[in-house]
Amino acid sequence: MVSGMRLLTEDRFMEKAQAYQAVLFSRGVDVNIEVVNQLNARFLRLNPDMALCVDASGLWLCGNGMKMQPDWTAEVPRLKRASLKSEMIARACHLSEKPAVIDATAGLGHDSLLMAHLGARITLIERHPILFTLLEDAKNQAESDPFLGQVVARIQLVFSDSAVYLDQLIARQQMTDVVYLDPMFPQRDQHQQVQKKQAQVKKQMQLLHLLLPEQGEMDLGDHLLVLARKIAKRVVVKRPRLAVFLAAQQPDHQWQGDTCRFDAYFNENMY
Ligand SMILES: C[S@@+](CC[C@H](N)C(=O)[O-])C[C@H]1O[C@@H](n2cnc3c(N)ncnc32)[C@H](O)[C@@H]1O
Repeated sequence: MVSGMRLLTEDRFMEKAQAYQAVLFSRGVDVNIEVVNQLNARFLRLNPDMALCVDASGLWLCGNGMKMQPDWTAEVPRLKRASLKSEMIARACHLSEKPAVIDATAGLGHDSLLMAHLGARITLIERHPILFTLLEDAKNQAESDPFLGQVVARIQLVFSDSAVYLDQLIARQQMTDVVYLDPMFPQRDQHQQVQKKQAQVKKQMQLLHLLLPEQGEMDLGDHLLVLARKIAKRVVVKRPRLAVFLAAQQPDHQWQGDTCRFDAYFNENMY
C-alpha cells in the first residue's frame, strides 16, 4: 500500500473525490483528502508539491505549479491530421492491417490513442496504480466525446504488470499481431545521448518523470522485449533517436525520426 499522498479538492467536489479515493484504495494507494478554497492556477503556483486533485475535469496530478493529466481530448487535432502514410508508428506497427496490438507500457496512452484512431484494436497495459486511474478517467471521458467515442471503443485497459500479463499469454500460447513497447528512458541519459534541441521533455511527460523513480530503480523494460518476442508476430520498440537497443537486441528493421525511432523485431515463424 502506498500511503501519504494528498488528494486536493474543493468542497463542492467532495463526493467525487471520495469516489476516486475508494478506487485508488482498491489499487493500493491510500490518499488523504484535503479541502482547499480554490483549486486554481494561483493555488498550484503557491503549492508546488506533487498531489492528486479532483475538480470538474476529473482526476489530475499537480506538481511544480502545473496541472497534468492524460488529456485525450487535447489530442483530437493531432489525430485528425494523422494518416497511415504520415505516421511512422503506423508503418512500424503495420496498422493498415488493423492488427491486434498490446501496448505493454501504456503511460499517458497517447501512442495507443493514435494507433486506435488508425484502426488498431488495442490492449493497453499499465502497472502504476495512479497512472492507470488517470488513464481510466481519460478513457471514461473520451467515451462521451463524439469524435473520440468510436476511437476508444477499440481500446481496452488492463491494470497489470506487463511481464505477468505476457507470461500468462505465453503459458496459454495465445499469440498476438503486435506488442508495442515504449519503456521509460532515464532523462539523464537522454541528455547525454540526444542532441540538446531534442532533449526537451514534453510537459505532459513530466508527469511520468514526477511519478516514476528516476534514480537507480527505474525499470528499463529489457525483459519485456524477451517475453513479447515469444508471442507476437511483430514487436515494435520506441526509443530516443540515439538510444541503445532494448535488451541489446539488434532489430530487424528501423524507422528513424528526428527525435525518436522505432525498432521492429519480426517473428518469422509466425508469418
Ligand atoms: C514512457 S511511458 C509510455 C508513454 C506512452 N507510450 C504514451 O504514449 O504516453 C512508460 C510507461 O510504461 C509503464 N510500464 C513500464 N514497465 C511496465 C510494466 N512492466 N508493466 C506495465 N507498465 C509498465 C510505466 O509505468 C510508464 O507509465
